[in-house]
Amino acid sequence: MTRKPNIAILGATGVVGREIIKIINELQIKFNEIKFLSSAKSAGKKIEFQGKEYTVEEAKPESFDNINIVLASAGGSTSQKFAPEIVKRGGVLIDNSSAFRMDKDVPLVIAHVNDDDLRKHKGIIANPNCSTSQLMLVLKPLHEKAKIKRLIVSTYQAVSGAGLAAINELTEDTKANLAGKTFENKAFKKPISFNVIPQIDVFTENGYTKEEMKVANETKKILHLPQNLPISCTAVRVPVFRGHSEAVDIEFEKEMSPEEARELLSNSFGVKVIDNIENYEYPTTRDADGVDPVFVGRIRKNLAFQHGISLWCVADNLRIGAALNTVRICQKIIEMELY
Ligand SMILES: NC(=O)c1ccc[n+]([C@@H]2O[C@H](COP(=O)([O-])OP(=O)(O)OC[C@H]3O[C@@H](n4cnc5c(N)ncnc54)[C@H](OP(=O)(O)O)[C@@H]3O)[C@@H](O)[C@H]2O)c1
Repeated sequence: MTRKPNIAILGATGVVGREIIKIINELQIKFNEIKFLSSAKSAGKKIEFQGKEYTVEEAKPESFDNINIVLASAGGSTSQKFAPEIVKRGGVLIDNSSAFRMDKDVPLVIAHVNDDDLRKHKGIIANPNCSTSQLMLVLKPLHEKAKIKRLIVSTYQAVSGAGLAAINELTEDTKANLAGKTFENKAFKKPISFNVIPQIDVFTENGYTKEEMKVANETKKILHLPQNLPISCTAVRVPVFRGHSEAVDIEFEKEMSPEEARELLSNSFGVKVIDNIENYEYPTTRDADGVDPVFVGRIRKNLAFQHGISLWCVADNLRIGAALNTVRICQKIIEMELY
């Protein structure tokens, strides 16, 4: 029988943290003890979980005494601060921030895509960025069949990807806009209501944003692609609360027909194909709200590449893009006894 771990949720009061708590229950993760941690701001708040009331505690190094697995979504600096404390105490950190993702000693994992990489962990496992995550479940089966040669991704990302403050800003800015009032945007560089913003995260030296470079670099790490494989991403924030959409153009080394891609994706873990343009059947962000699959539609031959496919994919950014994969990794390391 597998051992039952002591689990801590770091960032339990945040957008991702709350979703992690829900999914631990849904996936029936077996644990011995569980605790909920936040900053001093939310310490003392109550959380109802599986019929019991828990008090949220302020995270301190001692909070991780006797903890086997930490599921963290409390920002990069918090993870950086507590990672050594967790590892020193023999715990495993599953981290949602970007702090360790490209560290060569840290596996970057999408459950059911590169599970074997988990075996290499040295106490820290990273969860990929939300826009990368949904893409991996789609690209893996296609890459296995025909080998990716070039990739172009355009994202249409929901505000929940930027946390609670961003969700509130979309609500307040929309209300102000409809009432003809002025609104001072803080979470985004430009007004988000009735608008589309071609910037997510800060700009880097090459003119791409950090978010766009995450998609390129994390995709290569997870799928073990060559460093020089060309990947280009444009990441865009849209006034949607929940659900990221992506237009994806893939060039393959070998021939891949739309029928073949449809068939492969229809039989892949975590993917649901909705693709019948004659009946106007294709996925929209609302289809993904609160559910697990990555939805794929508009699968067609790409006219710009020799062996190319274009497709549209949508998923719930808070589930597969963050919390669901974090909990699936937790489930895997329990099953594989890697803690
Ligand atoms: N939203 C997404 O789709 C998404 C996707 C992938 C990854 N992520 C990553 O997940 C992390 C959290 O995102 P979020 O959207 O859930 O943000 P959020 O709603 O702002 O929540 C942040 C959480 O972290 C806690 N926290 C902040 N500072 C802390 C500290 N010094 N010590 C302990 N806890 C602290 C907060 O506690 P208080 O309640 O006390 O403030 C809160 O529980 C970020 O690293 C983000 O990049 C988010």
